[in-house]
Parts: sequence; structure tokens; C-alpha cells
Amino acid sequence: MASTAQSVKDREHTTWASVVEGWRVHDARLRSSSRIVSERMLTVTGVGPGQRVLDIATGTGEPAIPAAEQVGPSGFVLGTDFVEGMLAVARDKAAERGLHNVEFRRIDGEDLEVPAGSFDAVLLRWGLMFMPDPLACLHNARRALRAGGRIAIACWAEPDRNPWATLPLTVLARYTTVPTTPPGSPGLFAFADPSKLRATLDAAGFCDIALDEVAVVEGGDFDDGYEYLTYIRGLAGPVARLYDGLPPETQRNVDRDVAAAAERFRVESSIQLPGVTWIAGARR
Ligand SMILES: C[S@@+](CC[C@H](N)C(=O)[O-])C[C@H]1O[C@@H](n2cnc3c(N)ncnc32)[C@H](O)[C@@H]1O
Repeated sequence: MASTAQSVKDREHTTWASVVEGWRVHDARLRSSSRIVSERMLTVTGVGPGQRVLDIATGTGEPAIPAAEQVGPSGFVLGTDFVEGMLAVARDKAAERGLHNVEFRRIDGEDLEVPAGSFDAVLLRWGLMFMPDPLACLHNARRALRAGGRIAIACWAEPDRNPWATLPLTVLARYTTVPTTPPGSPGLFAFADPSKLRATLDAAGFCDIALDEVAVVEGGDFDDGYEYLTYIRGLAGPVARLYDGLPPETQRNVDRDVAAAAERFRVESSIQLPGVTWIAGARR
């Protein structure tokens, strides 16, 4: 791997490892607001009782855990991620639900090695965009699938349709330098262009590629923008890093500005930050 790719990988690993606690704390909110996406992905892949499902970049076990519930005791789900702390949360969640048909293993999505043709379905929610070599990941995913097996991938759509992510960064940019990522390079919006997602699936050898978009309210209802900012700082490493690097009086300005900007998204008594994700489905 070229050294720049390795440095991107190292940066992503450090970033995700730094927010494990936030993902544990905010798990219920996350699960509830992203349930619609998990359900759509399970439908797109036709996951059903007795099947074997691979979830790449599962984080805290999503959508591996709903998949494990869907395949039932005669099925099996393998959830993989390259951050051990995330997987520890996923294992705790599976144990709390009494699930014995799901296993979590630390594996880099680009180096995934599982027996060829051993899964009926592959899920990859909001992870592909952080990989420096997403095509390598999709080659591995395709190899893992049996002939005719299906994949579902979720990637965030364009930044202007995802204020849940852009709002805090826009405010932070008033007070500090927010690093810009060149379009298409690894990061939250690397696959915002649906033609790139389609082309990458095509290059990996998938067929019957279909893209759909799903609207989400990220994190659900918040009382105010302060509560939303606490949530997003817990989950988004880049936001947390920028915020934590500011002096306390500047942080208070950021809090105030985010709270004011979030009012634009007030729906009756709650703040609801909208987003749009692509869901791509394809077949081996
Ligand atoms: C936004 S989280 C999504 C987690 C989960 N799939 C969900 O939807 O809740 C992104 C996850 O991708 C993982 N990730 C990023 N690059 C990865 C790679 N190269 N291999 C495996 N996991 C990776 C991170 O560790 C993190 O857990």
C-alpha cells in the first residue's frame, strides 16, 4: 500500500478509536434513527432465516445485530471492523440481546479474508467511504459471496443534503481552520456522487446494481442545538478534535452558534437534523 494510503488508514483508525465511548453512550439514539436504513439494507439483500451474512465496518454492530435477529438461530452473522473498541461494544450489545449467532472479528475491510462463496449477503453501512482503497474492499466482498448473493452499501449523499454533518463544521470554520478533503478522497462524502458508487461496484464485478436514496433524521429528536452538539461531538471524531482544540470561551461561542443555527431545523418542540443516504444494492 502506498504510504499516503497507509497514513489515511492510520488517521481513520485513530479517529474512530477516539469516539468508541461516544458510540456506546449514544447507541440507542443511533439505532433508532438509522433503523430505517438497516431495514432497507436487509430488504435489498433479501436476508432471511438460516442465511449467512457478512457485515463489513460494522462499528458497534450495526446492521449486524438486526441481521442476526433476522437470520435467527439457524443463521450466522460475522461483523468485522478494524477498531477493536467498537467491536467490544458490539459484543456487549449482542450478549445483552442473548444472540449466539453473531461473531465480531477485527479485520480491515480492505484485507478481508473469509472463505470464498461463504456468505449469502454482505452489508456495508457508512464504512466504504473511509477506505483509501474501496475497490479492494468490494473485490473481497464479492469473493465472500456465493453466486447470486447480494450486497447492500450505504454511503452519505451530497453535503448540502446532510446538514446533520455540515452544520457543526460550518460553525467551527468561523473559529478555526477546518481541514478540507479533496473531492472523492476518503471521508464522509467520498461516495456522495452516486455514479462513483455505481462505477466502483461495477469495477468490482457486481451486476444488477441499483441505487436508491433514504432520508434520515440523524439522532432523532433533540431538545435544542446544545443537545445535538453533545451528540455529534460524541460520534464524529473530526468535530470532537476541532472543538476540543479550542479555548473554553471559543467553545462557548461554538455552542451558542450551533444552537442558533440548529433552530432552522426546529419541528414543533424538537430539533431534527436531516440527512440523505444512498443505498446501493447489487448481486454477485
Ligand atoms: C460511521 S461508522 C459505521 C459503523 C456501522 N456500520 C453503522 O452503520 O453504525 C464507520 C466504521 O467504519 C470502520 N472502518 C473504517 N475504515 C475501515 C476499514 N478499512 N476496515 C474496517 N473498518 C473500517 C470504523 O472503524 C467505524 O467503525
